[in-house]
Amino acid sequence: MTHRRPPTEAIVEWYNRKTEFLLEKYGPGPRVHYHTGWAAPDIVPAADRSHLRRQLWRSQEDMVWQAARAWGAEKNLTGHLLDQAGVRERVQPLLGDAHALEGPARFDAAFSFDATTYFDRESYFASLARVVHGGGWVFIEDTFLGRPELAAPFNEYWTTNIGWAHDYVAAAVQYGFDLFRLEDISLHSAGFWKLSIAYTRLLAEARPASIRWQSAIHAAYLDGGLRNLLLSFRKRDWSSGSDPFETCAEGNPSNPHS
Ligand SMILES: C[S@@+](CC[C@H](N)C(=O)[O-])C[C@H]1O[C@@H](n2cnc3c(N)ncnc32)[C@H](O)[C@@H]1O
Repeated sequence: MTHRRPPTEAIVEWYNRKTEFLLEKYGPGPRVHYHTGWAAPDIVPAADRSHLRRQLWRSQEDMVWQAARAWGAEKNLTGHLLDQAGVRERVQPLLGDAHALEGPARFDAAFSFDATTYFDRESYFASLARVVHGGGWVFIEDTFLGRPELAAPFNEYWTTNIGWAHDYVAAAVQYGFDLFRLEDISLHSAGFWKLSIAYTRLLAEARPASIRWQSAIHAAYLDGGLRNLLLSFRKRDWSSGSDPFETCAEGNPSNPHS
């Protein structure tokens, strides 16, 4: 079952209200992560705020690297190559609604970090189908339902519409993408929430409701109520006349996960 997406204005309002606090908690940057981190489930949070802040940031950086590993980014998406080639200034950032991307299909890959719980899954994959070319990739890191009763509190706390992984797969298939790989990283997300709870306890402003909620999701990542997954999808490519599954075969150099 797909839950109804909150109105866009409600999401915008939520972020307008929270941004200052989020920058204080996760900033100052230059790279500010606002997503789940990767940490051992038995990690011991540091006692002082600056070390704990560093642990929290490190775990978020590690999540990016874990995703890059799972998705074969270094080998196949040429990130290092582009950095070294000095073409950074030719990267064009665009700000817009993920449901409204327009063709032509020109991208090798699209990825999303902790954002798809805000999206309508069908419109999102329809949007991706317009811009990702045949044989291209969609990578998603996010939290998914493991038990239905967690949907309401999750959505209420974050103004989201959390879904089941199988709903994503169904929406993807409908728009020409096949699930290529699913990796469950929930235990390491629990490690991140352990750090986040400890950090929230040290913030000047008392946040008992936040600590209660974070403790509930920490438990849910451990007991399967919530699942943090790394998903990759590949767009079918009938134009080349080749069988897309053949190009993904184990050991094939074009397989980013082999
Ligand atoms: C939990 S934050 C993750 C931010 C960022 N991806 C990161 O990893 O730090 C979720 C993000 O989804 C964005 N978002 C929500 N609805 C969106 C939409 N329809 N199109 C594009 N972005 C959206 C929000 O603005 C917010 O920045």
